Amino acid sequence: MHKINIAIDGPASSGKSTIAKIIAKDFGFVYTDTGAMYRSVTYLAIQHQVSFTDEASLIELIENYPITFKQTDRGQAVLIQGEDVSEAIRQPEVTNNVSEVSALSGVRAQLVKAQQKIAASKGVVMDGRDIGTTVLPQAEVKIFLVASASERAKRRYKENQAKGIKSDYDTLKKEIEQRDYTDSHRETSPLKQAEDATLVDTTGMTIDEVVTTVENIAKEKM
Ligand code: C5P
Repeated sequence: MHKINIAIDGPASSGKSTIAKIIAKDFGFVYTDTGAMYRSVTYLAIQHQVSFTDEASLIELIENYPITFKQTDRGQAVLIQGEDVSEAIRQPEVTNNVSEVSALSGVRAQLVKAQQKIAASKGVVMDGRDIGTTVLPQAEVKIFLVASASERAKRRYKENQAKGIKSDYDTLKKEIEQRDYTDSHRETSPLKQAEDATLVDTTGMTIDEVVTTVENIAKEKM
C-alpha cells in the first residue's frame, strides 16, 4: 500500500467530515477540513469587525493569523494563533456568513495554496467543495458525497440535539439549501462534481456502509 490523496467533496452536511475522519484514521492518513479554514476566516472577520466583502482586509487577516490544525484526544482541533476555535467556528453567525467569504477569489487563492502545501507529501484525506476540481485535481481518489436535503437536515438536527444545541428542522433545511445554492453558483470554484469523481449518494446508508464503499474505491489505487 502506498500513500495517496483522497478528495471528498459535496454539499453542506453530506457527511464528508465524518467519513473523511474515519478513513484517515483507518489508513493512518492526515485529515484536513478545508471548510474549517473558510469558517476561521469568517470568524476572524467577525472578531475584527471586517466586512465579509472586504477582500483586501480579509486576505490581510489570513496572512496575520495563521490557521493550524492540532490532533487532540477529542479529535482534530482548529487553532488561530494557538487559540482553539473549533467550537466558535461552528456557531450560526459563522455558518450563515461563510459562503459570502468563501466566494471571494482572493480568499480562495490564499487558502488553496495552504491546502496544496498540506497535501504535497501525500497521505491526506481532504474534504471540501473544490478539492477534486481545483485544490487537488491530481488526487488519486475523488469522491462526491451527496444526500437529500431533508436527510442532511435530519442528521444535523440530531447532531445538534446530541450536543444540547436547540434547533428547528425547517430552519436547518432552509439554511442548508441556501448554502448549497450560494456555494454552487459562485464564480470561483463552485461546488461541482469533478468529471472523474465517483458519486456516492448516502441517503439511507449507514456511516459504516459509506466508509466501506469509499475505502474499497481507495484500496484499488493503493
Ligand atoms: O464544510 P463546511 O460546511 O464546514 O464548509 C463551510 C463553508 O466553507 C461552505 O459552505 C463553503 O462556503 C466553504 N467551503 C468552500 N470550499 C471548500 C470548503 C468549504 O468554499 N473547499
